[in-house]
Amino acid sequence: MKVAAAQIHPRFSRPEENRQIVRRYCQRAAQQDVRLVVFPELCITGYNFSSKRDLASLAEPVPEGPTTQLWVNLARTNEIIIVGGLAELGDKGEIFNSAVAVGPKGFLSCYRKLHLFGSEAKLFSTGDQIPKIHSLLGFKFSTIVCFDWAFPELTRILMLEGCEVLCHPANLVLPLAQRVMIARSIENRIFTITANRIGTEDTLTFTGRSQIINPNGDVLARGRARRTQLLIAEIDPTKARNKNLTPTNNIITDRRVELYKRLVT
Ligand code: ACM
Repeated sequence: MKVAAAQIHPRFSRPEENRQIVRRYCQRAAQQDVRLVVFPELCITGYNFSSKRDLASLAEPVPEGPTTQLWVNLARTNEIIIVGGLAELGDKGEIFNSAVAVGPKGFLSCYRKLHLFGSEAKLFSTGDQIPKIHSLLGFKFSTIVCFDWAFPELTRILMLEGCEVLCHPANLVLPLAQRVMIARSIENRIFTITANRIGTEDTLTFTGRSQIINPNGDVLARGRARRTQLLIAEIDPTKARNKNLTPTNNIITDRRVELYKRLVT
């Protein structure tokens, strides 16, 4: 099965232009028989808003908003799963930094980022739910958003719940997550797809270098730092079902959970 990371350059505060970019990348992915395509965090609005009011004017309800509706149509016509980040407008006017998942049969879920980065907390409310896991087209996938990379507990929970392919929409400004996600893949024996953006907004430069990693930590595809790219890799998600790191070591059954209580205090 082919999966993809769309490393795009969203235009700040120009949602219609960005929706058209996403549309083109979905069509390109489908033409190459990709079944799952991941887009960056906040790929419709851009990232570096200084005012909550400006961001609020572009935030959208999910699934009724124009972006989710477009993605539902693109997923149906192209028979593809789409995961990507957007600014979600909540029922009470809150704004969430969310990742939306849609499939050929429609809307699947909206995950609200749990770990906000830097000054995001001035703009966004924090989510309070673990991401959902979807079983579709013969494999199980889920999503985290950007800075969630720094909290291995979240990926661990998703692996224990059965996630085989972890999508990771990102707007990375540090060069660390690309390294860390290799470890997340190895220690959980899952595929990870980090779709990072490129470009600069004010003082922030996004680091590109999107990647697709297999459960052995091999880099199946890697983007450049400053180029828009559709990265594609062929994966066999069933390989993520074997949790043996060596013939005698299993990453689930070898755990010493009775000694790990400190992790959740
Ligand atoms: C980030 O969470 N956007 C770094």
